[in-house]
Amino acid sequence: MSDSDTFPASDEIARLRREIERHNRLYFAEAKPEISDYDFDKLLEQLIALERQHPELVTPDSPSQRVGGAITKDFSAVQHREPMLSLANTYSLGEVEEFYNRVRKLLLLEGVQEQEMVAELKFDGVAISLLYRDGLLVQGATRGDGVQGDDITINLRTIPTIPLRLEEALLADLQGDDRQIEVRGEVYMQKEDFERLNDSRPEEDSFANPRNATAGTLKLQDSAEVARRKMCFVAYYLKGIGDEGTAHFQRLKLLERLGFYTGGHYRLCSELDEISHFIEKWEEMRWKLPYETDGVVLKLNDVSLWDKIGATAKSPRWAIAYKYPAQQAKTVLHDVVFQVGRLGTITPVAELEPVRLAGSTVSRSTLHNFDEIERLGVMLNDRVIIEKSGEVIPKVISVVLEERPSDAVPIELPSHCPECSTPLVKPEGEVSCYCPNEEECPAQIRGRMLHFASRNAMDIKSLGKALVDQLVSMKLVQDVGDLYMLQEPQLDRLERMGPKSALNLVRALQESREKSYDRLLYALGIRHVGRATARELSAAYPSLDLLRQASEEELASVPDIGPVVARSIVDYFAKPSVPGFLEKLRSAGLQLSGSERAAQVNRNFEGLTVLFTGGLDRYDRQQASELVIERGGRVVGSVSKKTGLVVAGHDAGSKLEKALKLGVRVVTEDEFEAML
Ligand code: IVH
Repeated sequence: MSDSDTFPASDEIARLRREIERHNRLYFAEAKPEISDYDFDKLLEQLIALERQHPELVTPDSPSQRVGGAITKDFSAVQHREPMLSLANTYSLGEVEEFYNRVRKLLLLEGVQEQEMVAELKFDGVAISLLYRDGLLVQGATRGDGVQGDDITINLRTIPTIPLRLEEALLADLQGDDRQIEVRGEVYMQKEDFERLNDSRPEEDSFANPRNATAGTLKLQDSAEVARRKMCFVAYYLKGIGDEGTAHFQRLKLLERLGFYTGGHYRLCSELDEISHFIEKWEEMRWKLPYETDGVVLKLNDVSLWDKIGATAKSPRWAIAYKYPAQQAKTVLHDVVFQVGRLGTITPVAELEPVRLAGSTVSRSTLHNFDEIERLGVMLNDRVIIEKSGEVIPKVISVVLEERPSDAVPIELPSHCPECSTPLVKPEGEVSCYCPNEEECPAQIRGRMLHFASRNAMDIKSLGKALVDQLVSMKLVQDVGDLYMLQEPQLDRLERMGPKSALNLVRALQESREKSYDRLLYALGIRHVGRATARELSAAYPSLDLLRQASEEELASVPDIGPVVARSIVDYFAKPSVPGFLEKLRSAGLQLSGSERAAQVNRNFEGLTVLFTGGLDRYDRQQASELVIERGGRVVGSVSKKTGLVVAGHDAGSKLEKALKLGVRVVTEDEFEAML
């Protein structure tokens, strides 16, 4: 390639990178996106395509490096350079004042008169530490036990607000002899992204709040899935070796100049009053932020005094967290309805007198299960306290017994399904009751159908609740396979269904035939199989027929698929009704396999159990595993006598040794490629 070919490409690559980073900033730091997710993905695709044509221009800090793809089976442990302490909590302005006075006394002992504090928001996420060497991100770790955490660099690299390279001009003064600086902060998920994530998960596996979702995501084995979940990072701590200024306030500003997001909402306070004012101001304002905050953190501004004042075993004496009380409201419980989910679970839902709480009006709230109703001792018409603390959905936390009205009525727990009258069952050790009438219970049929049509599944917009209700109650359909046999004249006759809507539905169903195999896998509604799991499964088993034959053990060796999910998949395919149902989908022309590729590849690995160890140069683990599975093989994580083949990459260690000892066949990456 001549220089003249490369130069325009390098300009275009630089332009795309700048543009992508700008949109990242607009989305995450400023919450003011200018383009749609779709257009953003298109920009990223353009960059990736160009970089693929010019691999010499790929740099470790290119946004293309954030899409993930690498798989980590076990995260290795890392020692923190200095312990990651946590903060002591306070719950009242009185306690804040005590803290303020305590610090004052300690300062006076040091002969210091002036007391400046920085008030910051307390982000409700997961604390991490980032290490930069010569300005490049080299390591990211969880807090762990404070002394030692997990190395999750691969996953953290996917987070757009974590700079992969720092502004060089600023580094010179910052780094010490080891040329390193450390930044600590919080990884979190914006509320909208959290809701979107829960929408793509089965209800039984939904995350209770963005913090749990963040913690779960950071430990995922598949970094491509981490990238999809759009997490953010906010920095609140900088530690170099050199002189980074002795004021915390200035360090926050410096973090911003280095390319970090700080949230921007912090204030230098020289009086206790200013602190109280900050706390009061944000108590209401925080509900307008796109992320969750649960309090305010106060830090002594003069960093040179931090070490002098010191820390207890768990937390520094120069900082404290003030936690906002959980938001509560009192209201009346009018009724409890018992909903039957698509998997037969009965969920009691409280219907409440509408009341304002934490920035929104609440009129319904889940009571989770029957045990919860008993635990609360709640009756109809009771005054109840509802609370919102981090969770997006408020919950009933107690009954105001002193205010129990004379017309309070005990809540009758159903013994039979409210929809189909089948006696309910409560499996040993579970808190929920189920309707076991999977095949015929109209609520379950409706639930499965709505799930099938939902946005993340087959996205059939014209198949809404009202229509599904009619189709099921008139017994026109028993399962989603029947939908594809419906004719326009049958639909015409339904209520509120003129010829135009009938045609729309038939068209939408026609389009859904083209929806990808991994969407279909999710749409089936297998317990615990969400959108992400469906993606992992479709990569490991490129057709439904292959997936059906997989054993529980094989399934559990796919990244991010645990024993519970593996069991649930095997159980699903063992149901007597499933083969007939899948046949209906097949004859309806749905995509029961991935790309054409699956059908065309050879079966060179048929029956072979393969283990990868060490690093491969040309494939990442997931790609390599997929290639083996597509060709009929199995991929395992540990060596035994039964292992058929070990592919040893560079730096292979103990697994290679064991394989050689056991006499298992070992090949290099080149030989593996030849076998493909
Ligand atoms: S400073 C030594 N600042 O709250 C002090 N922490 O309850 C290190 N957190 O472990 C922490 N927002 O995970 C600090 N603005 C903020 C914070 C913050 C959230 C978290 C952090 C910490 C926990 C303590």
